Amino acid sequence: MSKLHPSKLSSCDNNLVIAIDDTEVGKLFISDSRSDIGSEAEKMKFANNINDLVVKFKRLEYNDVMQGDMLIMERLYPMDYRAYELSKREIWLDVFFDEVHELHRNGFVHRDMLRPSNIPGGVFDNVFLTEKGLRLIDVGISTLAHQVNVKMFEIFVQKENEELQVFAEHFLSR
Ligand SMILES: Nc1ncnc2c1ncn2[C@@H]1O[C@H](COP(=O)(O)OP(=O)(O)O)[C@@H](O)[C@H]1O
Ligand SMILES: [Mg+2]
Repeated sequence: MSKLHPSKLSSCDNNLVIAIDDTEVGKLFISDSRSDIGSEAEKMKFANNINDLVVKFKRLEYNDVMQGDMLIMERLYPMDYRAYELSKREIWLDVFFDEVHELHRNGFVHRDMLRPSNIPGGVFDNVFLTEKGLRLIDVGISTLAHQVNVKMFEIFVQKENEELQVFAEHFLSR
């Protein structure tokens, strides 16, 4: 079914993401999906209250045609960073680091920036470069500090900081 949807954006097989219009997209959660739309929406709203890094949550909506709940969010248009001067990329990176650290300090860790090598897809396909700088999508496996033990949260943050370094190399080296 997902392959035939005319507004399909995502080629991932987890959740179908469709374009609603120029400003919104909907992530569809079908009943047998392993991810939980409610918790993804709550985590997105939590991050949105800290800063503007994570894609903005709009609303939850039932889609009659697709027969599933959709998480409606702000539509982003990723650009290719290779088109931009290193000096500009360094500034975007600086702001990105600050914002990720701000999320960590306030109890949100994204946990899905660097895709594990055994899973197909782009290495950093949850990190979008937009006209307003770097943004994060996909909070499906993100963790809020109050949901886990303090030590666990620290481990997640430590891992994310390592992944940030890998991202920086990737972003500046091409
Ligand atoms: N807000 C958005 N704006 C534009 N495209 C999006 C947006 N959210 C998701 N997408 C597209 O859908 C894909 C899958 O979305 P994502 O939330 O990462 O789901 P998955 O859990 O399947 O990785 C993304 O890689 C991207 O191509
Ligand atoms: Mg993703």
